[in-house]
Amino acid sequence: MDVKALVSQMTLEEKAGLCSGDDFWHTKAVERLGIPRTMVSDGPHGLRKQDEEGDHLGINDSIKAVCYPTASATAASFDPEMLRTMGEAIGDSCQHEKLSVVLGPAVNIKRSPLCGRNFEYFSEDPYLAGRMATAMIQGVQSRNVGTSIKHFAMNSQEHRRMSSSSDADERTIREIYFPAFEMAVREAQPWTVMCSYNRINGVYASENPWLLTEVLRKEWGFEGYVMSDWGAVSDRVAGVAAGLDLEMPASGGVNDRKIVEAVRAGKLDEKLVDQACERILAIVYRYLENAKPETPWDKDAQHAQAADMAAECMVLLKNEDALLPLDKEDEIAFIGEFAEKPRFQGGGSSHINAFKTTGALEAAKGLKVTYARGYSVEKDEASDMDIAEAVTAAKKAKTAVVFAGLPDSYESEGYDRTHMRMPACQNKLIEAVAEANPNTVVVLHNGAPVEMPWIGKVKAVLEAYLGGQAVGEAAVRVLFGDVNPCGHLPETFPLKLEDNPSYLFYSGEGNTAEYREGIFVGYRYYDKKNMDVLFPFGHGLSYTTFEYSGLKLSAEKIRDTETLTVSVTVKNTGSHAGKAVIQLYVGDRESTPIRPVRELKGFAKTALQPGESREVAFILDKRAFAYWNQEIHDWHVETGVFTIEAGASSRDLPLRAEVTVESTAELPRHYTLDSIFMDVMADPKAAPVIRDYMKKIMKTFAPEEEQGGTEAAKEAITEEMNMAMMQYMPLRGVFSFSDGVSAEDAEEMLKKLNN
Ligand code: BGC
Repeated sequence: MDVKALVSQMTLEEKAGLCSGDDFWHTKAVERLGIPRTMVSDGPHGLRKQDEEGDHLGINDSIKAVCYPTASATAASFDPEMLRTMGEAIGDSCQHEKLSVVLGPAVNIKRSPLCGRNFEYFSEDPYLAGRMATAMIQGVQSRNVGTSIKHFAMNSQEHRRMSSSSDADERTIREIYFPAFEMAVREAQPWTVMCSYNRINGVYASENPWLLTEVLRKEWGFEGYVMSDWGAVSDRVAGVAAGLDLEMPASGGVNDRKIVEAVRAGKLDEKLVDQACERILAIVYRYLENAKPETPWDKDAQHAQAADMAAECMVLLKNEDALLPLDKEDEIAFIGEFAEKPRFQGGGSSHINAFKTTGALEAAKGLKVTYARGYSVEKDEASDMDIAEAVTAAKKAKTAVVFAGLPDSYESEGYDRTHMRMPACQNKLIEAVAEANPNTVVVLHNGAPVEMPWIGKVKAVLEAYLGGQAVGEAAVRVLFGDVNPCGHLPETFPLKLEDNPSYLFYSGEGNTAEYREGIFVGYRYYDKKNMDVLFPFGHGLSYTTFEYSGLKLSAEKIRDTETLTVSVTVKNTGSHAGKAVIQLYVGDRESTPIRPVRELKGFAKTALQPGESREVAFILDKRAFAYWNQEIHDWHVETGVFTIEAGASSRDLPLRAEVTVESTAELPRHYTLDSIFMDVMADPKAAPVIRDYMKKIMKTFAPEEEQGGTEAAKEAITEEMNMAMMQYMPLRGVFSFSDGVSAEDAEEMLKKLNN
C-alpha cells in the first residue's frame, strides 16, 4: 500500500482522527478511503483480547487464552531461543484472533524489588533484558504481527506512575535504562514502541522529543509508530511534535480537535501529522497485507509448550544434601494452597484468562503425594488446624514440599509493594513444617524477590516465579527429576529490602523519583560494595555439576574498533544430563569514571550429557568495554586493562583473564589554569608538553645531573615525591611555586596543551 498517497487524500480532520484510537483496542477506520480498523491487545505473555467492554487493568473478561510464563520467569531461562519460540506461538495466536499488534514485551529495569510490575519485567540487568526482548520480538514479528516494546522509558515503579518524574543523569539512563530498548530496536525493529506514563527529568515520555525522536528514531533508527500507554497523553499537540504518533485509547475526539486547531493556528506543522499517519498506516497495512486468520490456534499444544517453558525457567536456589530430585517411590507431602491453585501470573493489564491451569497436586496424580492446605490464600491466614494438619502430613512423609509465595494482592500493576516479606502465615507454616521434617523443600510462586527468614531451616528452595498456567506441571517435573533445573536468577535476592541500592530513595518524594543510586542497580551495587546477598544475580543450581575451563581470548590487546573473541569450555562432570548457563562479565580494572566491578556482556545456554563438554564462544565489541561519557554524549572506552570473567553466576566466576583495550577516540581537551596537574599528566599527549615546559621553570623537573644541590637533598626529594605533592594542584598552583611564569607563557602553554 502506498501510504503516502493514501494520507495525501485525507482531510486534516481525518488525519488528526487517525492519531488516536477508535476505542479501547482499535486504530481508527477511514471508511471513505477504505481504511479499516485494526486491533491491538495485551500481552506480553499471552493474549488478553477483550471482545466486550475494554479496560486496561485486566478487570473485565477477555477471551480464553494461553498464559505463558511471565517475564519474571522467562528471563530466568537465560534462553533467547525459548523467548523466540514463545513469540512465534503468540504471533500465531494473534493471527488467528486478527490482532495486529501484541502489547509487549515489557523491558523496564527492576530498580527495586518493590515495583508492583516486576513480574512483567525481565531483569535488573539491561543486557539480559535486551537479549530476551529482542528474541521475543523477532519471534512474534516472524508471524507478521507487530509488538509494542514498553514502557519507554524509566517506568520502574507503579507508585504515581502517571505523574512521577524519573530523574537521572544521562549516563544512568544510557547505561541502565535505555540499552534493552536500544538493542531491541536496533536488532529486531519492533513495529511499535509504547511510551510510558511517567515523566523523565520533568518531561512526560509522551511529549518528549529527545526520547521519541532524537534517541529512538535518529540514533537507533526506529521505523515503526510510537503509541502512548493507555491514558499517558498530557499535551497531545506537544506529543505530535515530539514524535508520539498514536494516542491510546480513544480521546473522545477532544485531542483530535486540538491537533486540527493547532495546525490551523500555525502552531503545529501539518507535515508532522502526515508523518504520524504514514507511520501508523504503514503498520496497519503491514499487518493487513499479511493477515492469516486461518492460522490454527491449538491451545492444548501451547499449554504443553508453556509447561516445557515453565520448567526451563525454574531456578534451583538451594539443594542441601542433594535432597532434590525426589524419588517417585517415596511418600511426599505437598503443603500449601498454591500446590492446588498455583499463583502463575500477576494482576493488571497482562492478566490472561487462562483456558486451563494445572496445579502441582493435579500434576502429581499417580505419585505417593499427600496434601495439606497449610494456609488460605484468600484469607491470608494459617489457622491452628491448617498448621496442625501440615505438621502431621510433614511428619508422615519422607519429604515435605511447601508451595508458598506471594498472593495476588501483594504484587500487581498499579501499585508497589511496601515490603519484601512473604505473608506471615506462610513463613510460620514453613518454620513449623521444617521443624517437623528436616527434609523440607520450598517452592516459590512470586514475581519478585522475597525475604527468606527460614532459609537456614529448609534444605531446598525452588524458585518457580510466576510461571504461567502450566507451572504446576513444570514444578512436579523438576521436583521429581524429569527435568533438570537450569534457570538462573535474572536479579539479585538481597538479604533484606534495606540492602537494595534504591532503598533510600524509592519511590520518590511527591512526583519526583530521583534515581540517585545511578548506574549502581542490582549486582552492580552489591558487588561494588562487596555485600552479602541471599542469592546473587545469575545464580542457579542443577542436579548435575559443571566445570568451567580453558578461557581463551583471541588477542591480548585490541583497539576499540576491533572485536575480541572469548571462548570457554564447559563440561558436565555430574551424572545427570543438564543445561549450563555460561555467563561472561567484563570489568574495567582501573578507570577514571566510577564503574561497576563487572557487567554481564554475554551468556549462553548449552545442553550437555554426563561427561560431555563443549567450547562456547562470545564476541565482545566496543560496547562491552564502553561507558557513557557525558561530555561527548557518546560511548567511550578508556584505554586500559579489562577483566574478563566467566562462570555460573555473578559470584561464581572461576575463570578470569585480562585484555588491554586501546581507545581510538580522543576526548576533547580543554585545559585551563584550573586543570588539575595529575589530570593533565595522565593525558599522554599533554604530559610531554607540560614536562618540557616545567623543565624550563623548575629545577626539580630537569634531569638529575642538571639539578645541582647536595646528594642528600637529591635523595630526600625525589621526582615521585614532588609529583605526589603536586598531583592535586591546579596548574596555576604549580606555577605559583616557581617564579618566572608570565601570563603570556601560561597562555602559550595552554594553547599547546589544547592542540
Ligand atoms: C499498561 C500497559 C498496557 C495498557 C493496555 C496500561 O495500563 O501500562 O502495559 O499495555 O494498559 O492494557
